[in-house]
Amino acid sequence: MINGLKPFSYSGRFITFEGIDGAGKSTHIQFVTDLLREKGYQLVVTREPGGTALGEKLRDLLLHDKMNLETEALLMFAARREHIAEVIEPALKRGDWVISDRFTDASFAYQGGGRGLDLDKMRQLEAWVHPHLQPDLTFLFDVSPEVAQSRLEAARSPDKFEREKADFFNRVRHEYLRRAEEFPNRFRVIDSSRSIGAIRETIKELIGEMD
Ligand code: ADP
Ligand code: TYD
Repeated sequence: MINGLKPFSYSGRFITFEGIDGAGKSTHIQFVTDLLREKGYQLVVTREPGGTALGEKLRDLLLHDKMNLETEALLMFAARREHIAEVIEPALKRGDWVISDRFTDASFAYQGGGRGLDLDKMRQLEAWVHPHLQPDLTFLFDVSPEVAQSRLEAARSPDKFEREKADFFNRVRHEYLRRAEEFPNRFRVIDSSRSIGAIRETIKELIGEMD
């Protein structure tokens, strides 16, 4: 049984997908949503930055424009505040399950680990923007930047973050793994260097634990 941090008395569950760019989140979100729908759950599938009309505008700026690091972190959390208020909390209150492609762990990993923003500032933003909400379950797709990069090169043209070098992604990966150690109840680290089929089997077992 997953011993997640269940927010308040929400009857829905909140599942997040994390990992460096190219780790395989998008590939496996579809699989998980199919699995949960088969089990009869009502789902809301969303992403960060984004998930609302305003959030998608902020996403466009965040992924393509150069900006000061603190501005970047604040905009990530501004988009998140809107996302929580407009999408995540209403869905959880209804009893829906929310599947989000990234959440606050990504800010710790990218703006904190990757870019070097003081983690205490990040903790203050987290405490301000969602003091009582945490995912019930976080899948961390863990893979080396070299493997992720080679997969991405074959798949798509890079955005602002995806153009960063292996050093950057090593720091991002390290901060993700540190968060996973800090919150072992909700994190499940998946070795994403394996085949898609093998990863699916692992995910199926982990989702089974939530019943
Ligand atoms: P992310 O959403 O984490 O950035 P994607 O799911 O878009 O990553 O995967 C990036 C690319 O790698 C895609 O072309 C995808 O088909 C491929 N891919 C994903 N997982 C694997 C895997 N386990 N083995 C080989 N290729 C993979
Ligand atoms: P993602 O949706 O994974 O990109 P794609 O659709 O290309 O797979 O994430 C967009 C980028 O935003 C990704 O490089 C990570 C970055 N990001 C942050 O830097 N901080 C954050 O808080 C979030 C949510 C994302």
